[in-house]
Amino acid sequence: MSAHGGDAGAPDASALHVVLPPGEPILRVVPMPADVNQHGDIFGGWIMAQVDIAGGVVAARHARGRVATVAVNSFTFKQPVLVGDVVSFFGRVVRVGRTSVTIDVEVYAQRNPGDLITVKVTEASLTYVAVGTDRRPRPIAG
Ligand SMILES: CC(C)(COP(=O)(O)OP(=O)(O)OC[C@H]1O[C@@H](n2cnc3c(N)ncnc32)[C@H](O)[C@@H]1OP(=O)(O)O)[C@@H](O)C(=O)NCCC(=O)NCCS
Repeated sequence: MSAHGGDAGAPDASALHVVLPPGEPILRVVPMPADVNQHGDIFGGWIMAQVDIAGGVVAARHARGRVATVAVNSFTFKQPVLVGDVVSFFGRVVRVGRTSVTIDVEVYAQRNPGDLITVKVTEASLTYVAVGTDRRPRPIAG
């Protein structure tokens, strides 16, 4: 059985309704019942993993090759994610160093397809280091 669409979430979810940022998300995924915590909401670690993947895609494109996550600078879970939400991850480069690149990731959940609600659920900042095949830092080409 498909879980797509989920439920409308908290009664005031519509009050949090926002518009998705322009452009395509880096990643769009639907969490499943296997991804919930003991309270029935999506496990924070699942969201963190997807954020790391999405940020890594943006970083690798900028660094034109392999990157390794060196730091999670900040991570804010603003609203719960529910089973069946369509979760979209948007990422942008906010800082470029000699070998590192810092990515801001914003995450939005869309639910209640009959009357679509979009909620911003997470904000995060992560730093990635461009690495060579030896796993050591390499300069990012200007
Ligand atoms: C990423 C890694 C290769 C960096 O190696 P390192 O010897 O620590 O590298 P350096 O000290 O030369 O720092 C490299 C860059 O990372 C930045 N950096 C290091 N630690 C940082 C931190 N805590 N926060 C932000 N940036 C950091 C440095 O400022 C430098 O950036 P710059 O060149 O743009 O100025 C190494 O730490 C590593 O392999 N870590 C494990 C990566 C990994 O497995 N990630 C997945 C975890 S599940």
